This record gives sequence, structure tokens and C-alpha cells, in this order.
Amino acid sequence: MRILILIFMVAFIGNSSLKAQEFTYVGANKCKMCHNKVETGGQYAQWVESRHSKAMESLSATEALDPKCNKCHSTHGSVKIDLVTGLKVTEGVSCESCHGPGSAYFPNAIMKSREASMAKGLILPTEKVCVTCHNPESKHYKGFNYKEALAKVAHPKPAA
Ligand code: HEC
Ligand code: HEC
Ligand code: HEC
Ligand code: HEC
Repeated sequence: MRILILIFMVAFIGNSSLKAQEFTYVGANKCKMCHNKVETGGQYAQWVESRHSKAMESLSATEALDPKCNKCHSTHGSVKIDLVTGLKVTEGVSCESCHGPGSAYFPNAIMKSREASMAKGLILPTEKVCVTCHNPESKHYKGFNYKEALAKVAHPKPAA
């Protein structure tokens, strides 16, 4: 009986840790509807102008299909395909590479609360997230200065 309970517990814990990964990638268009106003930081427009949204354009047609390249040049190539619901490969390095899969946190009622959003998968990224791609595995790597790099892609909400 004790063993049986143990098996159930392991199965239950295993299952709940799977749930955390069930958040899916919805794509930048979903974020655009709420994060494209100049007054609140125009995050979508800032990203469109950045190298991140254009990262797939640096690859040839063959390289674009190569997981060795698209795993860093796109969010799409870096995640399990069954977790992709709206995200497109042409988005390159999209919002959700840094902020986590958005399927559960994007509704307004959740987004209004940082705590609720983070419980539903929202990430406020630190250097750790950047260096999953900005590292010597990239042939073009010339070092990574987090402060300088962050300044180039920052999209804060302007102070009121
Ligand atoms: C329905 C509207 C809506 C959608 C869609 C939406 N957001 Fe938000 N988001 C908000 C609101 C409202 C806030 C909190 C208010 C604020 O300070 O701007 C917020 C805050 C955030 C924050 C800051 C959290 C914090 O506490 O500092 C991030 C990061 C964010 N959203 C990312 C995203 C991403 C990525 C997507 C797309 C996957 C997305 N949002 C989609 C409305 C939305
Ligand atoms: C480990 C992640 C990673 C992998 C794998 C990777 N790249 Fe990159 N790539 C980057 C990053 C990050 C940059 C930006 C340069 C930098 O600051 O390091 C970049 C830059 C580039 C650039 C230069 C863009 C420009 O105009 O300056 C090209 C071209 C490129 N990569 C092609 C490729 C090809 C082709 C492959 C597959 C063989 C590949 N990359 C694999 C992360 C990666
Ligand atoms: C999913 C992989 C990935 C993640 C995560 C990522 N980047 Fe990048 N980043 C790239 C790639 C790929 C490029 C090169 C795009 C191109 O030009 O083809 C790039 C380019 C850049 C550039 C432009 C380089 C230049 O010389 O102008 C900056 C700045 C940058 N990233 C900063 C950051 C910061 C800061 C973070 C973390 C908050 C981050 N990146 C997270 C993949 C990533
Ligand atoms: C290269 C990584 C990266 C990408 C791509 C990215 N962000 Fe961010 N984002 C950050 C970082 C870093 C912060 C600052 C987090 C903090 O305040 O601790 C941030 C902050 C934010 C905030 C909070 C701004 C504030 O000051 O309240 C919002 C909203 C946001 N991002 C939305 C988006 C949306 C929407 C997209 C896609 C269109 C996107 N981000 C793409 C890294 C990224």
C-alpha cells in the first residue's frame, strides 16, 4: 500500500511539472494589440526595428531550415514544435524567447498583475536568458556585454 501511494505521488508530481510546460507560443501579433502604443513604450514597434525580428533574414533558404542555425535565429526553432500555436518562424527572435510562452498570461485580467502573469509563465528576463543564444557557439560571437546589449534592445514604459 505504501508503495502504491508513493507511485501515485511520483505520478502526480511528474504530472504537475509537465503542466508548467503546457504554456504555448502564441506569436508577437498577440502582444501587438496591447503593447504597440507610444505612451506605454511601443514595445512591438521597437522589436520590429531590432535585429531580433529580422534574425531569419540573415540566413539563406537552406540555413533557415537547419536546426543548427534556426535554434538561435528564431523562437520557433528553439522550442518544441507541439508548443507552437500562433508563433511563426519568420518572426525570428520573438517576444516569447525572452518573456516566455504567452498562451496563459496574455489575457488582460492576468497581465494587469505581475504576480498572476509570472505564475502563468511570464518571464522578466535577465542576462541568463540572453546568453542561451549570445555565446561562443555562434560563429559571429565577439563577446557579450549585457549592459550595452540591453540598452540596444530596451523597450521600457516611459516614466509617468
Ligand atoms: C490584452 C492586453 C495584453 C496583451 C494581449 C498582452 N499584454 Fe502584456 N501587459 C498588459 C498589461 C495591461 C500590462 C501591465 C500594465 C503595464 O504596466 O503596462 C502588461 C505588462 C506586460 C509586461 C511587464 C510585466 C511587469 O510586471 O513588468 C510584459 C513583459 C508583457 N506585458 C509582455 C507581454 C507579451 C510578451 C505579450 C504577448 C505574448 C503580452 N504582454 C500580451 C496587457 C497585455
Ligand atoms: C548559439 C546561437 C547561434 C547559433 C547556433 C547560430 N547563430 Fe548566427 N548569430 C547568433 C547571434 C547571437 C548573432 C549576433 C552576433 C553576436 O552579437 O553574437 C548571430 C549573427 C549571425 C549573422 C550575422 C548577422 C549580421 O548581419 O551581422 C549571420 C549571417 C549568422 N548569425 C548566421 C548563422 C548561421 C548560418 C548559423 C548556422 C550555421 C548560425 N548563425 C547559428 C546566434 C547564433
Ligand atoms: C533565441 C536567441 C536569442 C536570445 C534569447 C537573445 N538574442 Fe539577441 N540576438 C540573437 C540573434 C540570432 C541576433 C542576430 C540577429 C541577426 O542580425 O541576424 C541577436 C542580436 C542582438 C543584438 C544586435 C547585435 C548588434 O550588434 O547590433 C542585440 C543588441 C541583442 N541581440 C541583445 C540581446 C539581449 C540584451 C538579450 C537578452 C535580454 C538577447 N539579445 C536575447 C538571438 C538571441
Ligand atoms: C531580447 C529579449 C526581449 C525581447 C525579444 C522582448 N523583450 Fe520585452 N523586455 C525585455 C527585458 C530585458 C525587459 C526588462 C525587464 C525588467 O524590467 O526586468 C523587457 C520589458 C518588457 C516590458 C515591460 C516594460 C516596462 O517598463 O514596464 C514589456 C511590456 C515588454 N517587455 C513587452 C515585450 C513585447 C510585446 C515584445 C515583443 C514585441 C518584447 N517585449 C520582446 C527583453 C525582451
